[in-house]
Amino acid sequence: MWVGSSGALGALPAAALAASVPVGAADDVPVTVRLTVNDVAQEARVDVRTSLLDYLRENLRLTGTKKGCDHGQCGACTVHVNGRRVNSCLSLVAMHEGDSITTIEGLGTPDRLHPLQAAFVAHDGLQCGYCTSGQIMSAAALLTEPCGRTDADVKEAMSGNICRCGAYSNIVAAIRQVRDAG
Ligand code: FES
Ligand code: FES
Repeated sequence: MWVGSSGALGALPAAALAASVPVGAADDVPVTVRLTVNDVAQEARVDVRTSLLDYLRENLRLTGTKKGCDHGQCGACTVHVNGRRVNSCLSLVAMHEGDSITTIEGLGTPDRLHPLQAAFVAHDGLQCGYCTSGQIMSAAALLTEPCGRTDADVKEAMSGNICRCGAYSNIVAAIRQVRDAG
């Protein structure tokens, strides 16, 4: 609810208002974090509130990782941290001192696709492509997780990754191909 000058805040003295909305708080102080991104050592000097997602996209220009919801609901921002998948929009880069981060740019290259990238192409597992890097990063993590062999198991393990184009059946087929080959 918006509270205007005639509402509850309007009755507060100016000094109390200033105290309730700190300006230039300690949060504005940059922090230094050393981490590895796609096997390259990085030293990040960032606002302590910077998400891992924004650091990757805005500081390092690794824009393969996508911002969908920015609330941990769509999976478009999925990366690997020390080999495990995380939603980078929900993680502060300041928390990753010493960590190893892998993004879609570190998984394969246009000349040397990761098997999952090739399988997504072969099975037409993408339409607009916006969710695709997150889907592939989740799928790559799934290959190392104790996931059952059925399509239902794969769908459950991939349920944190939303595709607004509805490419789900082709995504599952791509993952199945890579798992069966492995
Ligand atoms: S952008 Fe991170 S889960 Fe949607
Ligand atoms: S391919 Fe368009 S959102 Fe998944």
